[in-house]
Amino acid sequence: MSVGSLLRRLRRRFSIALMLCGALGLNAAAQETSSQAISASDEQGLTPIELLGKRIFEDKTLSRPAGVACASCHQAQQAYQGNNGSSIAAFARGAAPNTLGKRNTPTVMYASFSPPFSFVEERDVKTGHREMIPIGGQFFDGRAATLTEQVKGPLFDPNEMNAASKKDVVAAIRSGPYAELLRHVFGAHIFNNDNDAFLKISQAVAAFESSSRFHPFSSKFDDYLQGKDELTPQELEGFKLFKDPKKGNCLSCHVGNETSHNPQDWLFTDYTYDALGGPKYQQARSASKPDLGLCAQPGLAKKIPFQMRLESFCGAFKVPTLRNIAKTAPYLHNGVFSNLRDVVAFYATRDTQPARWFPRNSRGLIEKFNDLPRSLRRNVNISEAPYDRRLNQSPRLSEAEIDAITAFLATLTDREKH
Ligand code: HEC
Ligand code: HEC
Repeated sequence: MSVGSLLRRLRRRFSIALMLCGALGLNAAAQETSSQAISASDEQGLTPIELLGKRIFEDKTLSRPAGVACASCHQAQQAYQGNNGSSIAAFARGAAPNTLGKRNTPTVMYASFSPPFSFVEERDVKTGHREMIPIGGQFFDGRAATLTEQVKGPLFDPNEMNAASKKDVVAAIRSGPYAELLRHVFGAHIFNNDNDAFLKISQAVAAFESSSRFHPFSSKFDDYLQGKDELTPQELEGFKLFKDPKKGNCLSCHVGNETSHNPQDWLFTDYTYDALGGPKYQQARSASKPDLGLCAQPGLAKKIPFQMRLESFCGAFKVPTLRNIAKTAPYLHNGVFSNLRDVVAFYATRDTQPARWFPRNSRGLIEKFNDLPRSLRRNVNISEAPYDRRLNQSPRLSEAEIDAITAFLATLTDREKH
C-alpha cells in the first residue's frame, strides 16, 4: 500500500485523547515546579524550573565555538522561529564556520502539545477498517520522542550548536552565571553526575518550552472562538473554506474541534504525517541528497507494524501547527515558499496547473514532486481535497478564495496579552 493511500485514511477528525494527552503533559510539567514569582520583566510569570530553562535556551556559551543559543534560531519575537542571520532564509547558520542546517526551522510554539512519537490505532470512519498510523514526536520526522529528548539534537548537531559532549555542556553551565539556579531547582548534588545533570538540564528546557509563553492562545481567532472579537467577512469566509471538506479541507489535517470554543481544542495539527509533494528548493545546498522525511527517522524500521513497508513513509513530514503561521516564513520543511499565499495557492493548483510549481525535464515533461526520487513520488497524497484534482480541471479554490484563506491564517497570530 502506498503512503498516499495509507495516509489518506489517517486523515480523520482529531482525537480527543490526543488533545488530553497534550494537556496532561503540560500539567505534569507544571506540577514539577513551584510557582515562585520572578522579578525581571522578561522573566515574569515563570516558575524556577521554567526560568532555568529560559537561561539555558538563551545561553550562547553552550555551542562550539560559543555564539549560538537555541534562541538564535528560535527567537521569541518571531514566534520562536528564526535562522540565526543566515543568508539563505530556509537554512539556519550553525555555530561552526560555513555550516547550515538541513531543514527550515519550525516554530517551537505549541510544540509541547505533540504526544510522544508512536503508532496508534485509527479506525476509518467510513469503512470501519482499523490500522496503525504514526503520530507525534518532535522534528519534521518525529525522531525525538519528546521535548526533553529533543534538546540533545541541536546541541550536538555539527550544523547547529556543535557541542562536543554532555560533559562539556554540563561543565559550561557549572562554571556559568546560573549554576546556582540549577542547584536551587534540582538540589546541591546536581553536578555530581554528568548524565544526570544533562537530563535535568534537558527537562528544564522542556519545562520552559511548555510554559504559557509558548502557548498563550492570544490570537484574534482565539478571541473570536470565545466571542470576544469578530472576524472580518473575508476572514470568516476563509475560515469556512478552511473547514469545508469540498473546498480547502485544511481542517482534516490542521485540525480543530468544530464543536469546541476552547482554544486548546484548536491546535491546527493532529501531529500525524503526510506527503504533500512540495517542490524542490533550488537554493538548497543538499539538493543532491533528497530529504525523505519520516522513513529516514533513525530506528523507524523497528517501530513500524509488521505488515507495513518502511518505504511507504518516505516523503511524509509531520503536519505543522498553523498558529503564528503569518510570522514564520519561509514555509514547508525545505523552506521552498517564502510567502504564505503561495502555500495556499500551491494546495489549490498543485495538480491542476503543475507547471506553475514544478520545472520541466529534458524531454519537456513536468517533473511533479521533484523533491523526491522518482520511485517514491507515488507516496504523495493525490486523493484528498484540495489536491485531488487532475490536470486542467478547475481548482477547488478560486484566487479570491485563496486570498480569503490567507487572510484567515493571519488571524492565528498570537498578540500581546492585554
Ligand atoms: C542553528 C539553528 C537551530 C538551533 C541553534 C536550534 N534549533 Fe531547534 N530547530 C532547528 C531546525 C532547523 C529544526 C527542524 C529540524 C528537523 O525537523 O529535522 C528545529 C526543531 C526544533 C524543535 C522541534 C519542533 C517541532 O515542532 O517539531 C524544537 C522543540 C527545537 N528545535 C528546540 C530547540 C532547542 C531546545 C534548542 C537548543 C538546545 C534548539 N532548538 C536549537 C534549528 C535550530
Ligand atoms: C492531508 C493533510 C493536509 C491537508 C489536507 C492540508 N495540509 Fe497543510 N500541511 C500538511 C503537511 C504534512 C505539511 C508539512 C509539509 C512539509 O513540510 O513538507 C503542511 C504544511 C502547511 C503549511 C506550511 C507550514 C509551515 O510551518 O511551513 C501551511 C501554511 C499549510 N500547510 C496550510 C494548509 C492549508 C491552508 C490547507 C488547506 C487549503 C492545508 N494546509 C491542507 C498537511 C496537510
